[in-house]
Order: sequence, then C-alpha cells, then structure tokens
Amino acid sequence: MNSGFLKTLNKRSGGAIGFRDQMGTHGRYQFSHGKAVANRISLVNHLISLYGFHNYLEIGVRRKADMHDKIIASVKVSVDPAEDAEADFNLTSDAFFQQNTQMFDLIFIDGLHLGEQVYRDIRNSLNVLKPGGMILLHDLNPPTEFHAREVYEVDGKYPAWNGTSWQGYARCRVEDPELEMYVVDVDWGVGYIRRGRQKCYSGSIASYADLEKNRVELLNLITVKDFLRRHPVNRLEWSPLDPLAR
Ligand SMILES: C[S@@+](CC[C@H](N)C(=O)[O-])C[C@H]1O[C@@H](n2cnc3c(N)ncnc32)[C@H](O)[C@@H]1O
Repeated sequence: MNSGFLKTLNKRSGGAIGFRDQMGTHGRYQFSHGKAVANRISLVNHLISLYGFHNYLEIGVRRKADMHDKIIASVKVSVDPAEDAEADFNLTSDAFFQQNTQMFDLIFIDGLHLGEQVYRDIRNSLNVLKPGGMILLHDLNPPTEFHAREVYEVDGKYPAWNGTSWQGYARCRVEDPELEMYVVDVDWGVGYIRRGRQKCYSGSIASYADLEKNRVELLNLITVKDFLRRHPVNRLEWSPLDPLAR
C-alpha cells in the first residue's frame, strides 16, 4: 500500500488509527517466538509459544500457505466450505461445530465476514475452548465504510473487505460482562477474547458511523505494545501490580 493511500485513509478516519501498524508494515517486535513484524500470524504464534498451547482451530483458511502452515501449534484443524479451499473440514463453521467433539487452546475466526456469522462463531468457539483458551479474530477494525460493506464483490472485483465482522464482536462487547475483549490495532484489527471480566460497552453498535465515532472505546482498541504488556515475553517479570498486565 503506498503512502498516499495511507494518508487518505488516515485523513478519512480523523487520523485515529495507526494504519502503518494496521497493515503490518511497522517495525519488528520481540515476540515469545522471536522477532517478527506484528500481524495476525505473529500474534497467534506469540500466544501459542507463551502459554504452551497445542490445539489450534482456524475458521476460514483459503490457502494454507498464507497463514495456517505458519502457525506453530502441534495439532491444527482447518475449516472452510469453499470447494477450492485447503481445509481439513470442507464445511461451513456452523456445520463444523454441529459435528465437532474436539476442544481447542486457540481458535482463529476468519470465516464469513458478516456480523451475525461472527457472533455465532464466537459463541460456538467459547463452547469448545479449553480452560485458559483464547479466541483471536481477524478484520475487526475496518478503516472506512467501504471496507465495512456487506458484500465482498464490487463490479466483478474483490477489493479489501473487512465486512461487518466488527458488529459480531461488538455484540459481545455490549452483552457479555464475563469476557475479556480487545482489538489490537494491527493487520486490519486482530480481536482477542477469553473468559474473564469486562465493563460492557453501552453505546449503539447499529451502524458504521457508531464505530467511527467511538472506535477506541467500542472495540477496546489497543496497540501492539499494549498487547505485549498484557502478554509479556518474559513472564517472570510479570507483576500483578502492573494494571496493564492481566
Ligand atoms: C479471508 S479468507 C481466510 C484467510 C486465512 N485465515 C488467512 O489469514 O490467510 C476467508 C475464508 O472464509 C471462508 N468462509 C466463507 N464462509 C465461511 C463459513 N460460513 N465458515 C467458514 N469459512 C467460511 C471463505 O471460503 C474464505 O476462504
């Protein structure tokens, strides 16, 4: 992405978002699995390595080489209904969860980018998470209303699409105080959910304008550095007195 387009995006969003980081072009960070550019893959691998996770589920895979093959978990399961997708289960996520009996340490939700579907994927995933398990989600911080459109295809082309995934996540921000939730401002917005506690969001989540007006509070938007403070590389240095380290 060129810098002119980045400037336009930043202008349209009131400069509220760190787009350089969001596109994964920011500098390298020290993760538990080594130094890497911050993106959905390095965040997932950081948690797997840090907490010794084994069982990984990816909902929405397309080509395994893009992400799935790069994930360092020892047991990996992939789900995607597209005929040409390289998935272990050639099923929709709903159909997969109906027949699934496995439990997972970490689930990455990146299937159909529509609010209702993402909401169901979150609730179904919570039911098959091992104790201490975590959910990560892609595409939760669309930079413009165009990115947050309902339909992927535009005039026979497929420009970048975050869809309305953010609304499925936002519904949990509004209605479930027994979750810990935030979105890391990197790679189109990487969401994090695990069982815990949160002060629920009380504003409207009906439209993209609601997201644009209250992006930081609605999403609970944090930086990569904040993410690393919450999941520090050297956990021996972790202090319960540090308000950011939970
Ligand atoms: C953005 S791609 C996934 C990319 C991959 N996770 C990565 O990071 O490289 C989204 C995928 O979700 C799949 N998908 C669409 N509807 C789905 C559904 N109901 N359940 C699961 N996957 C779905 C699509 O076929 C598509 O391959």
